[in-house]
Amino acid sequence: MDKYIITGGNRLLGSVKISGAKNAAVAILPAVLLSDGVCRIENLPNISDVFAIIRILRELGADVRMINKNTVEINPSHINSFTLPFEMTKRMRASSYFIGAMLGRFKRARVAPPGGCDFGVRPIDLHIKGFEALGAQVTMENGMVDARAARLIGSPVYLDKVSVGATVNIMLAAVKARGLTVIENAAREPHIVDLANFLNSMGADIMGAGTSVIKIRGVETLGGTNYSIIPDQIEAGTYMAAVTAAGGDVLIDNITPKHLESISAKLIEMGAVIEEFDESLRITMDKRPKKCNITTLPHPGFPTDMQPQITTVLSVADGTSIVAEGVWDNRFRYVEQLSMMNANIQVDGKVAVVSGVENLKSAPVFANDLRAGAAMVIAGLIAKGTTEIENIELIDRGYEDLVEKLTGLGADIKRVTINEPSAVKQAL
Ligand code: UD1
Repeated sequence: MDKYIITGGNRLLGSVKISGAKNAAVAILPAVLLSDGVCRIENLPNISDVFAIIRILRELGADVRMINKNTVEINPSHINSFTLPFEMTKRMRASSYFIGAMLGRFKRARVAPPGGCDFGVRPIDLHIKGFEALGAQVTMENGMVDARAARLIGSPVYLDKVSVGATVNIMLAAVKARGLTVIENAAREPHIVDLANFLNSMGADIMGAGTSVIKIRGVETLGGTNYSIIPDQIEAGTYMAAVTAAGGDVLIDNITPKHLESISAKLIEMGAVIEEFDESLRITMDKRPKKCNITTLPHPGFPTDMQPQITTVLSVADGTSIVAEGVWDNRFRYVEQLSMMNANIQVDGKVAVVSGVENLKSAPVFANDLRAGAAMVIAGLIAKGTTEIENIELIDRGYEDLVEKLTGLGADIKRVTINEPSAVKQAL
């Protein structure tokens, strides 16, 4: 178990290179199952969620070769199992993508219900609705989701609610189905587009990804590919939020500025100055953040995965801000930790009223989940004194080289091992 020790108060200066997108990687890696060839994937983030999926692929029988820390070559042709037990799925929501991928490949999937960050109820009813529309029968057998189909036939699928996971899973199941699948009210996140581009690079026929109507014409086979994953919108947004809170002047490099528009707009409202280039942006901040109201929504709205980080910035803003969570039922549990650091935040259901204070004060805190953990790191960077953050294995799930990147910007942060090696080191 490791913890972070952060001494706050340093402005952030310099440049930081953003890694590949976690949520694209965890969809693209299971999608490799659908290929008949070797897939080489670059710009893979070096994070524990990625290693967990790679471990699953290996356990299933795939040949996986790490070319370097951000490039992998996978030959899935020897995979012959469609079963994923709970030990493999309990840590990660994205393990549910193996249902769609296995169904697409074997017309059968037995996968234990997915785990992942706890933001309240996280059903998969829309995923199942999609599989059933394609002709699969889905039952719960011995605690496993059991999906089977004699054959998958393309079909219209209307999602009652915009769901990233259901959109991904239905794309995976439909890509080799017979005929045309049309997903209506589909999620439009950049990682949905990235998955479609990846599948198309293997020979799939997917149109409309990035809009709310995705059309998938089934193909018989998919071949190998060379593909580079898009930059991580949320990792970039987290560093931008850190600069807005701590002050500084930072080049956020290796990004797609368009993916960051909703985040940039709010940080500009708070007083940050942002200059965009082709694959980078410069963010400068030299004053106390201004208050600002935010509602999280599916893309292109403000991402829920930036909500804890932005609330932390607003905790030291001049004035009172309202943050409304529009995606998850229970995503303010970390506020208790921020309150221990002197934040003044009242939560009522899915709304937080954030009364800005002049300073946060250090306290021992822990990461409730991945993005809540990132929020604690930002809190530590701005707090007076030295903050210790535990449970940081959850932060390892989504942030590559966090200490190195922040130290490179002048932050005072170190990682200390309490007793045994961290999860990410074991996975490596
Ligand atoms: C993904 C992201 C997660 C992000 C979320 C919303 C990954 C691996 N995770 O999670 O980081 O916070 O998108 O941007 O990409 N819902 C249903 N029925 C379903 C599925 C979802 O009611 O079958 C509801 C959920 O309870 C939630 C909303 O739809 O209220 C959005 O969930 P969804 O977009 O599916 O989130 P995930 O794919 O789990």
